[in-house]
Amino acid sequence: MLSGAQPTADSYHLGNYIGAFRQWVALQDEFEAFYFIPDLHAITVEYDPALLRERTYVAAAQMLAAGVDPSRSALFVQSHVPEHAQLAWVLGGVTGFGEASRMTQFKDKSARGGQDSASVGLFTYPILMAADILVYQADKVPVGEDQRQHVELTRNLAQRFNHRFGETFTVPEAHIVRATAKIYDLQDPTSKMSGSSASHAGVIDLSDTAKQAAKKVRSAVTDSGAEIRFDPEQKPGISNLLTIFSVLTDRSVDDLVAEFADQQYGHLKVALGEVVGDFVQQFGSRTRELLEDRGELDRILAEGAARAREVAVPTLAAVYEASGFVAPRPAGA
Ligand code: TYM
Repeated sequence: MLSGAQPTADSYHLGNYIGAFRQWVALQDEFEAFYFIPDLHAITVEYDPALLRERTYVAAAQMLAAGVDPSRSALFVQSHVPEHAQLAWVLGGVTGFGEASRMTQFKDKSARGGQDSASVGLFTYPILMAADILVYQADKVPVGEDQRQHVELTRNLAQRFNHRFGETFTVPEAHIVRATAKIYDLQDPTSKMSGSSASHAGVIDLSDTAKQAAKKVRSAVTDSGAEIRFDPEQKPGISNLLTIFSVLTDRSVDDLVAEFADQQYGHLKVALGEVVGDFVQQFGSRTRELLEDRGELDRILAEGAARAREVAVPTLAAVYEASGFVAPRPAGA
């Protein structure tokens, strides 16, 4: 199993935690797991190198704070494992220009800055993501809904490569937990919570203080009417709050609805504000502790990269062999 989350903001947000990290942690007992920080992906949009370096450490600390256990899962930085980029180049040869052009995330992201300002890297981003997955022969890829199309492309590339050059890759499946696959922005419950949102008023950052987070929850945009029930179509705002409440307290949505049935939206928001506040407070103090010992983070990431390469190196060798590349032989051998 493999997954990653981009270090493109100062902190991950509650959507990353609920949609992805919770699944990562739940699955690490059952699967051989590889979790990584895609720094190579992060440079496909304009960025500041010093910030990227810091964000990479924060990303590692937050993944650990979320419960990724480095004794069970390999946790590493993408650029430490050169086979990702090497495999991406090979996969580029079996990717159609048209199919890459259909990736909705590229269309959305490039539309934001004007298509002319988008980098070639942003365009080929999904091919690198396919390499991330295939280089580990992953069976499952736990992600949120927004990554479904990229995993679908990955499957197509794996099948195509296998068909043309012989069985080389495991064809992976996305692991998407429907109930939590898309957490919405608290200020706009029709769009997903996203680190790149212009305003973070509706985004709970995992680095928020308890006070900031509780305030964001209390100011959440809710729906017309007054009844508290779970109905994502008619009541997207309240349903989103109920989903978050349910995940963070391990209580069922039905149970929460029963508790709040006779109360007003405000009561639900105050109660959830406290829950979210407590959560980010604990998460933040754990993250800060981890960030104090950079040497230990470096050690964990180096060990993770070494474990990752144990799988990535032989996969790339098999791919090169299937591709018809002459293996390098030392002179005189
Ligand atoms: P990224 O960095 O945008 O997001 C990391 C993970 O968080 C999930 N997610 C959400 N889930 C629920 N609700 C939300 N509002 C929400 N926002 C984000 C994402 O679906 C993702 O699972 N391209 C990937 C990173 C990547 C990757 C990979 C993932 C690179 N290589 C290989 C898996 C496998 C991305 O940009 O995710």
